[in-house]
Formats: sequence, structure tokens, C-alpha cells
Amino acid sequence: MAILLPGGAGYIGSHTAVELLNSGKDIVIIDNFSNSKPEVLDKIKTITGKDFKFYEIDYKDKEALDKVFSENYIEAVINFAGYKAVGESVQKPIEYYENNIGGCLALLDVMRKYNCKKFIFSSSATVYGDPEVIPITEECKVGGTTNPYGTTKLFIEQILKDVYASDNTMDICILRYFNPVGAHSSGLIGEEPQGIPNNLMPYVVRVAAGILPELSVFGDDYDTPDGTGVRDYIHVVDLAKGHVKALEKIDKENQGLYIYNLGTGTGYSVLDMVKAFENATGKEVKYKITGRRAGDIATCYADPKKAEEELGWVAEKTLEDMCKDSWNYIQTNK
Ligand code: UFG
Repeated sequence: MAILLPGGAGYIGSHTAVELLNSGKDIVIIDNFSNSKPEVLDKIKTITGKDFKFYEIDYKDKEALDKVFSENYIEAVINFAGYKAVGESVQKPIEYYENNIGGCLALLDVMRKYNCKKFIFSSSATVYGDPEVIPITEECKVGGTTNPYGTTKLFIEQILKDVYASDNTMDICILRYFNPVGAHSSGLIGEEPQGIPNNLMPYVVRVAAGILPELSVFGDDYDTPDGTGVRDYIHVVDLAKGHVKALEKIDKENQGLYIYNLGTGTGYSVLDMVKAFENATGKEVKYKITGRRAGDIATCYADPKKAEEELGWVAEKTLEDMCKDSWNYIQTNK
């Protein structure tokens, strides 16, 4: 019996692969390396001392997926495959809808054929749009996404609700990630954005390393304590452990559709992050204040109580860990 990880060579997938292997689970990874590298697979094996099967396939390819299901007893799927660049999604909406939604539908269809009932989906806090209350609970209204990437997450959540309504012998868990940062403490796996990063932490790390000249802080006139945007940054290893807990939950409960926020419950501003990074690493992060970035909101952080109560999961790593591990990763992989 194995857990299938589409996109398991990617940033969050690879960290979750490590935690699943460490918890004694067998895994099968599929990936087409559209946003990841083959070396990651060996690194997962080095960290865990464990082996697993891998198929280089596109998760939209139903014939190839069928082969994976026929050759392995897949008990659950945790879907990490999906394009995730907000700006790119505005330029390439067709590719985003086709890949993220098409891939998910292909997985669900082949799962149905093989009577595989457990599905965990990587969703995002982006589904809350501009949140109506802070901290955000799972009961908050969803919708009002501002880019095709976010809308693919919203649509897939709806698809999963419809699939569950049609077959309530399924176990579906939707995990809404806040802002994943950091890397594995070994320095072997971490985030590898292509080109100039869009997200804050990878940008900060590259400014500190002298790869980029300075950070642009997108707006200091938000209604927040220092005027810069506030987010709920969560260490990727904590996030990965949330998946192991979600799997335990659906194994235990048998049949249901569950939704959890995975965040720390604490919001930090852009300038808090710059200061925390400087303190944790002793490196200077040059920055300038620029105009707001289109589509950004002022504040977004989770109420993570439901995950604590129902999954027994809480984020344990500190902001210092997030900064140090991000820095360690770029130092090891420059
Ligand atoms: N920011 C800057 N300068 C930068 C990059 C970011 O000031 O160069 C600011 C943003 O304006 C925002 C904060 O840093 O206030 C965080 O921005 P990120 O791009 O790191 O993250 P977002 O919150 O915009 O988006 C992230 C993920 C999305 C996900 C969303 C969920 O990238 O995939 O969280 O809330 F949908």
C-alpha cells in the first residue's frame, strides 16, 4: 500500500515525501519536472535513508496514470502537482486551468476506476480573496480570487465538493496553505523558483546573498501596524507534517470531506520579515518602498484552531527557523 504524490519532487511535495517516509509510509512519486529537478528524488532518499518508486509522467496523462495505479496499490493521493505562479497565471490562464484542473480531474477519474477513495488537496488561503474577517476561519466566505491561479484552487475545491456529494464513501481533505517558507534543515531540499522570485522570502534571501540588488517593498500605506502587507508565514516542514496528520485523520474517520487552514495564526509584515531575516542571519537586506502590487491584500493570517483540535497539528517552528533554514538552503545550493 502506498501514497501517491503527484508533484512530489516540488517544494512542498518533497518535504511531505520526507515526513511520510519518516512516519513509515510507502510512497510513489510522479512528476514531469515542469518546476522541479530530478536530483530532488535522490535528496529525499539521502535524508530519509528510504527508497520509493518514481514515474516521470504528466499527471494529465490518464493512460500513464492508469499504469501507475495498475502497478501499485495506491491507498491515497496527495496532490501537489499544479502551476503556482500568480503573475504567470494572468498571462497564461488557459495553461493554468488546463494543467491544474485537468490534472486533478484525471487523477480523480483514475482513482475512481481503481476504487481509491482518499484524496488530499493542496489548496491555498488565496481562496478567501480579500478576507471578511481576520484571523480567517474555515467558515469564512470563499471567492473573489484575483488571478487564474487562485481561481483554479477555488474551482478545484468546488469540484471536490461535487465529487464527494456524488460518492460519500470518499475521504477528501482540502488543506488551505498560508505562506510556506523555509527549507529542510539538512539544506538538501528547498524552494527553487525559476528566474526572479515573486514571493517575499526567496527574494529576501537573494538580496542578502548579493544575487539581487534590493527588495521592493510593495506598499507601505496598508491599514497594518507599519503599513506593509501582513501574512502568515509557515515553515514548510510544519506544513509537510500537517499532511501526515491529515492522512491519519482520514484513515481514522473513514468517509468525509474536511477543510483545514494550515498556518501559524500569527501575522508578520514585510518589514518584520526583513528585520527577522537580518537578525537570524546577520546579513543586511537592502530595500526600498515602492507602490502596491496589483491583487495584493493588506492582511491575511489564519485561525489554525480547527487543525489543532481535529488533526492534533500545530506549527512548531519559529520565524527564526524559517529565516535560518531559507538562508542555509541558498548557501548550500548557490
Ligand atoms: N512582497 C514585497 N516584495 C516582494 C514580494 C512580496 O513587498 O518582492 C510582499 C507582498 O506585497 C505581500 C507579502 O510580501 O505583502 C507576501 O507576498 P508573497 O508574494 O510572498 O505572498 P502572497 O501572500 O502574495 O501569496 C502567497 C502565495 C500564493 C497564495 C497566497 C495565499 O504566493 O500562492 O500566498 O494567501 F495564493
